[in-house]
Amino acid sequence: METETGDKKLQEKIRELIKKRKAILLAHNYQRPEIQDIADLCGDSLELSIKASQTDAEVIVFCGVHFMAETASILSPEKTVLLPVKQAGCPMADMITAQDLRERKKEEPEEAVVSYVNTTAEVKAESEICCTSANAVQVVNSISEHRKIFMVPDKNLAQYTKKQTGRQIAYWEGHCYVHNNLTPDQVKKAKASHPNALFLAHPECPPGVLELADEIKSTSGMIAFASQSDHREFIIGTETGILYPLSKANPDKVFFPADPNMVCRDMKRTGLKEVLAALEKMEPVVKVPEEVRTRAKGAVDRMLAIPRG
Ligand code: 13P
Ligand code: SF4
Repeated sequence: METETGDKKLQEKIRELIKKRKAILLAHNYQRPEIQDIADLCGDSLELSIKASQTDAEVIVFCGVHFMAETASILSPEKTVLLPVKQAGCPMADMITAQDLRERKKEEPEEAVVSYVNTTAEVKAESEICCTSANAVQVVNSISEHRKIFMVPDKNLAQYTKKQTGRQIAYWEGHCYVHNNLTPDQVKKAKASHPNALFLAHPECPPGVLELADEIKSTSGMIAFASQSDHREFIIGTETGILYPLSKANPDKVFFPADPNMVCRDMKRTGLKEVLAALEKMEPVVKVPEEVRTRAKGAVDRMLAIPRG
């Protein structure tokens, strides 16, 4: 661990290089605090995708995981997209391959494939439209009501969306280990310890957990909700990195993790040293091959065209 002074020096060097390289630093809400503090934008997957599509920076430094950097490359192929730690992936995104999806499409050619943004570019290229945790319900509602829907890869997001929309939704049996391990018993215990707290859950949590939620939100949705709420205490059912931006935006409110073990190993791989090295060497670069990119872009663009709810 760097000392605080060491962190400050690294942060200054990074900001200088960001300027020199005409770069922008995007960080997901689960990133380490020292990374979030120097980001040009912290956000959820949807906000980061929108920013990646709109920025006029020449370089995007993506502090998150691989599918997020790929989405930036899909949207801004002329820019250099850096993912400071090449191995930072999303195990859930790797639970379905493009070949798996092609086989499903052969069996069920009428289905509209809705892929969570937590997928590889190759899977997006086989999809009709993407969604994130912030807009899955609006995305599904945008599809003609006569069509059957197949959602990949998260079974929990799919079941939540099915319940919210009343649509006929089949789904892939993938999951995020960070959210899927949270149990209703853990939530009940947290509620008993903090009886005045509202429970905010991410839609990647299992159905039994979501039934106990006062609100189901994306990561940035949780920050926005807590900021406008009159409540002072919240139990948070998502990766614990979110506690930092929640507390930063709401210094007068208290946030308790539903389970302190909800830690995404991949989101925590990126540190200041890795970000500095990436900007110095201008690598590792994430670049989606053009043939895949153009097909994947259709699915991402259709999602981005949907008004935010
Ligand atoms: P959000 O889009 O809600 O930030 O979620 C991303 C993610 O990876 C959840 O685990
Ligand atoms: Fe993937 Fe889960 Fe980590 Fe999000 S928290 S990046 S869904 S493994």
